Amino acid sequence: MQKILVTGASGFVGSRFVERWRNEYTVLAPSHAEMDITDAVSVERYVLENSPQVIVHLAALSNTWYCEQHPDESYSVNVIGVCNLASAASRNGIKFVFFSSDQVYNGNCESGLLAEDIAVSPENVYGRHKLEAEQRALEICPTAVALRASWMYDNERPGMPTHANFVINIAKAIKERAPLILPVREYRGITWVREAVEFLPATFNLAGGVYNYGAPNDKDTYETACCYCEMLVGLQSGPLLHPDYERYPVHERNLSMLPDKIFRASGGTICFSTTMDGLRIFAEIGGSVHM
Ligand SMILES: NC(=O)c1ccc[n+]([C@@H]2O[C@H](COP(=O)([O-])OP(=O)(O)OC[C@H]3O[C@@H](n4cnc5c(N)ncnc54)[C@H](OP(=O)(O)O)[C@@H]3O)[C@@H](O)[C@H]2O)c1
Repeated sequence: MQKILVTGASGFVGSRFVERWRNEYTVLAPSHAEMDITDAVSVERYVLENSPQVIVHLAALSNTWYCEQHPDESYSVNVIGVCNLASAASRNGIKFVFFSSDQVYNGNCESGLLAEDIAVSPENVYGRHKLEAEQRALEICPTAVALRASWMYDNERPGMPTHANFVINIAKAIKERAPLILPVREYRGITWVREAVEFLPATFNLAGGVYNYGAPNDKDTYETACCYCEMLVGLQSGPLLHPDYERYPVHERNLSMLPDKIFRASGGTICFSTTMDGLRIFAEIGGSVHM
């Protein structure tokens, strides 16, 4: 079996990755305490002792607000951490796959689905650090695969962490009868984490580079939520969702990604459902409303 080193295995994506793939690969999942990615020596030692063939790097400081308040810590984990793993991968001939973010597009003014080759200039610390990590990792390890992930969702699952995410926020609003105020001038892909996890092994065969990695979505965030509520049988979205027309007054916030490059490069294997289709399937199997 191929041996995979996964970082961030206790996190939202990492825990689901381990659960899905532990029987098909030898999955090495050191905790933060066992391998601190900001410590180059600790990373190199772990890699040499365990000889993985692939590194799936999911550890990060993933909270954008926290990164804004703690830029040095964000730099250390989200840039230096990536460089340390890229160096270990490069020195030891290991395929390196890591998660970047759609937040690299948060300074863009273009509308429509965004491709990887447009110029980007992120406006927050997290986005800038993710972009620098992509650039530096590819300099260190040209075969590295940087996956620009979008906002991901899933149900709460026993023993696995779940952040505030799109479907959980709606479920909470239903449960607490507390309306959600959602931006109309925001476009972003919203991806079921199950798809992101399912496609990961197919990324091991990709050529080095940056790839959009998430569901395309042409609807704004408020409209996306209205559609999702309609999918949940018998739910009236009217009293639950309120449109916010004021947020993002200067230019619409558009993080919506076009996932065509990865579709072509994987020979059609990595084919993300649209946000609407993903939510429809999620709703059909119960959605988060029954959590
Ligand atoms: N979740 C999303 O919707 C989303 C969207 C776009 C991109 N992403 C990206 O996708 C990746 C996975 O995100 P996620 O949501 O799974 O993150 P997460 O739930 O916040 O998990 C982060 C993981 O990183 C570990 N970690 C943090 N600092 C570390 C360090 N110095 N050394 C070793 N491990 C460390 C954490 O372990 P401890 O808790 O023990 O510190 C935890 O296991 C990240 O790159 C994130 O930026 C996520």
